[in-house]
Amino acid sequence: MSQGLTLKHFTTGYPKRKVIEDLNVALLPRGKITVLLGPNGCGKSTLLRALAGLNKGQGELWLNGEELMQQPFARRAQRVVYLPQSLPAGVHLHVLESIIVAQRASGGLHNAASEAEVMYLLEQLGISHLAMRYLDQLSGGQKQLVGLAQSLIRRPELLLLDEPLSALDLNYQFHVMDLVRRETAQRNIVTVVVVHDINIALRHAHHALMLKEGAPIADGAPDKVITPETLAQVYGVRGRIERCSQGMPQVMIDGLADSALV
Ligand SMILES: Nc1ncnc2c1ncn2[C@@H]1O[C@H](COP(=O)(O)OP(=O)(O)O)[C@@H](O)[C@H]1O
Ligand SMILES: [Mg+2]
Repeated sequence: MSQGLTLKHFTTGYPKRKVIEDLNVALLPRGKITVLLGPNGCGKSTLLRALAGLNKGQGELWLNGEELMQQPFARRAQRVVYLPQSLPAGVHLHVLESIIVAQRASGGLHNAASEAEVMYLLEQLGISHLAMRYLDQLSGGQKQLVGLAQSLIRRPELLLLDEPLSALDLNYQFHVMDLVRRETAQRNIVTVVVVHDINIALRHAHHALMLKEGAPIADGAPDKVITPETLAQVYGVRGRIERCSQGMPQVMIDGLADSALV
């Protein structure tokens, strides 16, 4: 029984527009972060939503040996959590309440999170001081961190984070990727994260999947996926990958790619 997420002939999109067609992905590993890369509009959010059952799809999705598409929505919603790019506006709940509600809504009643467990998670995220604040009075970055807490408390097998860093400052970007990496390993879950910062992908992820117009261009170790060739082909830029003084790979973008290469 394979451990991780496998996509077989997976197709999804909207009534008038197929976005992903016949996508096959051998294995997104368990206990590791996969970054989903690709330009704006290539289908990253559509794919994540479809994995969570929020967009219609066809094909097979195998998660830790069980097929997701065949499962009742309630079971699937327990196993798979999708954190959208922005949380719905206008929710007048305390941060603490909102996390407890998120967990109950996912059918976690039998194993309800205690207030202490929620507070511990908030501490780890560095936002325990926000526990009694109202969600609709938080900054964009603070809301993203609360969204992450709401996702983690549900203890999914597959965690899908759609641009979770977009409103975060440099310190929190690092902190969140570090935490997500640790939780992913400890809980042995499959985590898929959409990030735009290629250097964050290289530094924090174990695995990368790069899409262009809904099709996979490369799938594997981040330093094998992020190359001058794929940067030109997928993003239309001329890039170099160099080692920094500490030996970490760094991407430098020198300009736009020659149109002949793209
Ligand atoms: N609700 C929708 N109805 C129809 N088309 C959509 C909808 N949402 C997104 N699209 C289209 O699907 C394609 C992929 O979008 P999306 O998955 O949001 O891209 P990404 O997250 O990679 O930026 C785009 O062409 C976009 O315009
Ligand atoms: Mg998107």
